[in-house]
Amino acid sequence: MVMYMATLHSVSFLFVIATSSILGIGYCQDSSYNVLDFGATGDGNADDSQAFVAAFRKACRTPGTIQTVNFPPGKAFSLKPLTLEGPCKANNLQVQVDGNVAAPATVGEWRGCEAGCLLCFQNVNGLILKGAGLIDGKGSSWWSSKSNLINTTHEEDGCAPPALLHFHKCDNLNLHGIASKDSPRGHVVIHGCTGVRISNIHITAPEDSPNTDGIDIAFSSQLDIRNSFIGTGDDCIAIKGGSSFINISNVACGPGHGISVGSLGEKGAEDRVQQVHVQGCTFTKTQNAARIKTWMGGAGYARSIFFNQITLIESGNPIIIDQKYCDGGNHCPPAAGAVKVSDVSFRGFHGTSAVEQAITLDCSDLGCTNIVMDRVNITSAVPGKPLRALCNNANGKSGFTAPDVPCLAKK
Ligand SMILES: *[C@@H]1O[C@H](CO)[C@@H](O)[C@H](O)[C@H]1NC(C)=O
Ligand SMILES: *[C@@H]1O[C@H](CO)[C@@H](O)[C@H](O)[C@H]1NC(C)=O
Ligand SMILES: *[C@@H]1O[C@H](CO)[C@@H](O)[C@H](O)[C@H]1NC(C)=O
Repeated sequence: MVMYMATLHSVSFLFVIATSSILGIGYCQDSSYNVLDFGATGDGNADDSQAFVAAFRKACRTPGTIQTVNFPPGKAFSLKPLTLEGPCKANNLQVQVDGNVAAPATVGEWRGCEAGCLLCFQNVNGLILKGAGLIDGKGSSWWSSKSNLINTTHEEDGCAPPALLHFHKCDNLNLHGIASKDSPRGHVVIHGCTGVRISNIHITAPEDSPNTDGIDIAFSSQLDIRNSFIGTGDDCIAIKGGSSFINISNVACGPGHGISVGSLGEKGAEDRVQQVHVQGCTFTKTQNAARIKTWMGGAGYARSIFFNQITLIESGNPIIIDQKYCDGGNHCPPAAGAVKVSDVSFRGFHGTSAVEQAITLDCSDLGCTNIVMDRVNITSAVPGKPLRALCNNANGKSGFTAPDVPCLAKK
């Protein structure tokens, strides 16, 4: 009798294993891989790169719903530039950063120009990067030549400073809660990803640090960015060619160059951006706020772009469409053709401008079409000082708009 029971038990046990493996679930449990168990020291000194790579590979090879790699709190990890590649077997590969993570402090330790990013994630579907930790790019050694990067020794070797977090072909990406500071270049780069959620992140770099964009987006769609703080030396968020269906809400930006669509159409490129919704964002002492910038001679379009409920605190260029964009360092002769700008609206703007020309609609001969403004009330940061708008070849309509935008038809 006892033997019979035991046999029955083993049979059903085997049956459970067999069923689970057929369904591809269950028998590999969701686990957490602590980088300390893979040889990391977290002492703020030793190189913890290989431990992270080993933990990541282990987690990536393991099926399940969610496999987690942990940087535990209270530790300081040091990493060299790394490529972390999928595909991974679990539905979600999670990197939980609660300790602090630092990049190398000098250009030499970054292996000079070899690496394009500190953490370069590729082809990891369902990646989650979250936690209360700080990712410190220690970028100051890269910023030495602030006026013109093209002339720095680093770019003479044919390379730009690296980004901090780079996601390439990572669909269904989720970034939550992390802080990131002082990237050599862009802090978060989203390239070729579909389905991205970014929330409660905190990005900072000095106002005068060059090209330190907060979030750079290219060739990506279906993004939701919300409840975050970004204050850097360049764009808080830059939306570049090949991007569409992007929602940005409740982001506080500043210092920085604003939330920018572009630049698009550089060196004759055909770039396309559409369906960008920016809602409930605040710009504090930024160089620009709501911005679209395209180069002369480009092709493609920037269309269906909506800025709603925007608060301005001493912002430079609160509203600016610049179809003759020229990055200071380069010579930009007039060129035929333009990235077409259409169906752009600015609604519910209030607050103060640090510049007299609060609204700039500087379009090429082709013109910008269906530009809409309503409930725009911008006053000068200097009490009583009048503001003005500049219009070149802009068409569309306006409701209440202060300052008045003469080229838009009154509705
Ligand atoms: C940078 O290089 C360009 C082209 O070589 C040159 O025209 C420019 O003056 C240089 N700028 C600085 C700041 O050295
Ligand atoms: C963006 O917002 C619109 C309107 O609320 C919504 O329909 C759409 O699903 C959102 N897109 C993303 C990627 O969250
Ligand atoms: C515009 O904003 C100023 C400053 O906040 C305020 O005094 C004024 O009443 C506003 N005008 C309208 C039409 O809302």
